[in-house]
Amino acid sequence: MEQYAIKGGNPLVGDVEIGGAKNAALPILAASAMTGESVYIENMPDVRDVNVLLDAMTNIGVMVKRINRHKVLLNAGNINSLVIEDEALKKIRASYYLVGALLGKYKHAEVVLPGGCDIGSRAIDQHIKGFRALGATVTIEHGLIKAKAEKLVGSHIYMDVSSVGATINVMMAATMAEGVTIIENAAREPHVVDLANFLSSMGANIKGAGTDVIRIKGVSHLHGSEYVVIPDQIEAGTFMFAAAVTKGDVTVKNIIPKHLESITAKLLEIGCEVEEIEDCIRVVASKPLRHTQVKTLPYPGFPTDMQPQITVALALSRGTSIVTESIFENRFKYVDELTRMGANIKVEGNTAIIDGVAKYTGASISAPDLRAGAALVTAALAAEGVTIVDDIRYIQRGYEDFHLKLQALGAQIELVQKERDFQKFEMRVG
Ligand code: EPU
Repeated sequence: MEQYAIKGGNPLVGDVEIGGAKNAALPILAASAMTGESVYIENMPDVRDVNVLLDAMTNIGVMVKRINRHKVLLNAGNINSLVIEDEALKKIRASYYLVGALLGKYKHAEVVLPGGCDIGSRAIDQHIKGFRALGATVTIEHGLIKAKAEKLVGSHIYMDVSSVGATINVMMAATMAEGVTIIENAAREPHVVDLANFLSSMGANIKGAGTDVIRIKGVSHLHGSEYVVIPDQIEAGTFMFAAAVTKGDVTVKNIIPKHLESITAKLLEIGCEVEEIEDCIRVVASKPLRHTQVKTLPYPGFPTDMQPQITVALALSRGTSIVTESIFENRFKYVDELTRMGANIKVEGNTAIIDGVAKYTGASISAPDLRAGAALVTAALAAEGVTIVDDIRYIQRGYEDFHLKLQALGAQIELVQKERDFQKFEMRVG
């Protein structure tokens, strides 16, 4: 089993190139199945969730050809099944994007129910409500979500919660429905906008993505496209906070600064210097970090996917900080691991009360989910001594070459497989 071995204490210094956004790439790949013509996707992150989805698409007859590590050609002209029971697909959240895509194009889809990180109950009632409003019959049987329609007809849909997944799924299905669909209380995340732009590049008629009202006029045909996925807001934010935690000086490159505003604002509040230079942001942490308060919110609020990373920083900041998680009810599981490294955090319901400590110390810890796993790695980079991080498969779901990018910034981190590798690492880092 792979683990990260980390010797903390080195400030991260240098430039890091940010890859394509996982949470944009996933729906874009699924939506590529909505045309029989060829689609080229560039800036695709080479991460496990994306590769699992591509394998599942291959298994139903989509031709998937890697042009290079970050560019893929898809052709869904010969799909041979609308029933997708792929075991691996159960593990990723985005499996359900194939429902919206295939239902939209073929008016029928049966897909294994999604898994993903264990961070809360993660209902799909809003997806189902949206599909039904468009005229589909939706049932859940034998672990599959089954959606079928004679035809889909545009509708006026009010989402009870702002949901990225439901907005994306309903938008895909509505793209090929008859007439106009209006989604109210739509999610405004950058990846929702990216999918809308991709669908539009295929001939869809979508207005308002990025606001809370999206208007979709159905079309009968989508054509091929060439598209570049947006940079990953959360990967960028993770490196920006890694700079803060390690008292470093890191420039994240190839990003869209607008997508990072709430993250930048918090870094400034806790005492970092943040400089925006075209499509780069430099974060310098030369002064002691200060406490603050933060509440996770849908975009443009502070992202829930950055909650563990800011908590790791605040636990090393002077004073008492409060972090409130308002999106997922079970997203503080990593706090036990951080406590083993010396953090002083009390969790009450959806709130963490954090009393800053002077340092972390290395320990043997496990990644409970993707973002928390990455955040724990940043804690280990700041810690005194050696940390072993288990269950890094979670981190690999969403971060490409995480340890290599950190190494290039001066971190002492290695991927180890066996006890012997770990001993070698310990000897090397002293
Ligand atoms: N919700 C419902 N009913 C629904 C759908 C959602 O009640 O039908 C609730 C959820 O329980 C949650 C809230 O609405 O409380 C928001 O959930 P949302 O649907 O927006 O989340 P998601 O689509 O399941 C995506 C990302 C997550 C990210 C969230 C929030 C993907 C594949 N996943 O999940 O990313 O945390 O949006 O921004 O895009 C990650 O990348 O590590 C990750 C977990």
